[in-house]
Amino acid sequence: MSMVIRGGTIVTADLTYKSDILIEDGKIAAIGQNLTGDKVVDADGCYVMPGGIDPHTHLEMPFMGTYSEDDFESGTKAAVAGGTTMVVDFCLPAPNQSLLEALQAWDNKSTKAVCDYSFHMAITWWGEQVFDEMKIVVEEKGINTFKHFMAYKGALMVDDDEMFASFSRCSELGAMPLVHAENGDVVATLQQRLLEAGNNGPEAHAYSRPVDVEGEACNRAIMIADMANVPLYIVHVSCEPAHEAIRRARANGKRVFGEPLIQHLILDESEYANADWDHAARRVMSPPFRSKLHQDGLWNGLASGSLQVVATDHCAFTTKQKRMGVGDFTKIPNGTGGLEDRMPLLWTYGVNTGRLTMNEFVAVTSTNIAKILNVYPRKGAILVGADADLVVWDPKASKTITAKHQQSAIDYNVFEGHEVTGLPRYTISRGRIAAEEGVVVGKCGDGEFVPREPYPAVNKALSKWKELTSPRKVERSGIPAGV
Ligand code: URP
Ligand code: ZN
Ligand code: ZN
Ligand code: ZN
Repeated sequence: MSMVIRGGTIVTADLTYKSDILIEDGKIAAIGQNLTGDKVVDADGCYVMPGGIDPHTHLEMPFMGTYSEDDFESGTKAAVAGGTTMVVDFCLPAPNQSLLEALQAWDNKSTKAVCDYSFHMAITWWGEQVFDEMKIVVEEKGINTFKHFMAYKGALMVDDDEMFASFSRCSELGAMPLVHAENGDVVATLQQRLLEAGNNGPEAHAYSRPVDVEGEACNRAIMIADMANVPLYIVHVSCEPAHEAIRRARANGKRVFGEPLIQHLILDESEYANADWDHAARRVMSPPFRSKLHQDGLWNGLASGSLQVVATDHCAFTTKQKRMGVGDFTKIPNGTGGLEDRMPLLWTYGVNTGRLTMNEFVAVTSTNIAKILNVYPRKGAILVGADADLVVWDPKASKTITAKHQQSAIDYNVFEGHEVTGLPRYTISRGRIAAEEGVVVGKCGDGEFVPREPYPAVNKALSKWKELTSPRKVERSGIPAGV
């Protein structure tokens, strides 16, 4: 059955124009005027954009003694209700667990997905087995990105030697490393000091992770990636010291990408202070929310291109799970949700305020992500032959965000009470309507795994370190007498 999206204005990362779209067999078959099909979707007064891609989610993930509450069903239902048609989730092997075994578990969980999805693989430990399995992950499993945690000491954190080894392996395989950039040693020390001084509430979580913790790790990861001759993607960039490191690296010709989260763009550190325990704990995530100064920097980065994408890091825990940390903030599961609200919030606070153009909105919620993760133009594009992952966006529709009407399985929403104007009228996933005015009609299992190829040439960037770090003997003449 074919479908025509009629009467809308197409908005892509670089163009805005009035046209219809014909969809056949889940793909865009034609773009033009007065197209006809078996079913007509009315886009009158709406923008038609590539469906959102969320490059950073944690669905049903074992973490900090529990599992994140949203699974591939509630998580992807939240995604499509909010205009997102693909999520990229983190496969997280336990320390010493085989990457392939962990991937099997993620394959099993993801059969419930309502929209398409892909995986990043986390490197949570290092050894010959990981080195060998990385090749299989890239060449046979369709995963070209590897995540490294520089924080969560004693659990997921990898050291610099492990990170350098893994980054170098990524370089050989045509893969890209991702990092959670926070200095885990400093965080652990500050946590201890705060607890010893009697600060055990959720606000101490923020005190234990000052911006320099993030800035230092970000700089370090960038330098290590440069020495390993590999591009780098930094997740959840929250502050200026980290942003500054990315800006500087890019100005020096390094392929470094920065991903702010919708949470850091909208919410600030005042959420922790003078708030009741549950309110603050529900907002405990790493990095924590920052001051308005850092927030402005993130918005500027999106507008100017020094930051390229907006994600959610959706990792939702119920109030009951958050209360595991009563009396010890280091035991509050880290993470917040945002899958359903990312697009409407970014439109409201970005496009409606003039901070972002509509085309920039498409770039940072979809097209840039598809390009950076090497799945463009199958995703992130309105082109003939691309997957028909689209959102018909009503710029006049509005609502107040509330947990009462959300798809997420948790009992609150960190954006509760925020008014948004600009909502999906239809979310279309590979040619099927997945959500209509916030009501999810897509079914579990509609989503498919999207394999991502190794990067063709990006790892061949010149690096002054390449010669110095390759294992070869340097010939030297004129050895000083007496040595
Ligand atoms: O606090 C966070 N961000 N939780 C999710 C795991 C991670 O660090 O990305
Ligand atoms: Zn992280
Ligand atoms: Zn994350
Ligand atoms: Zn189901």
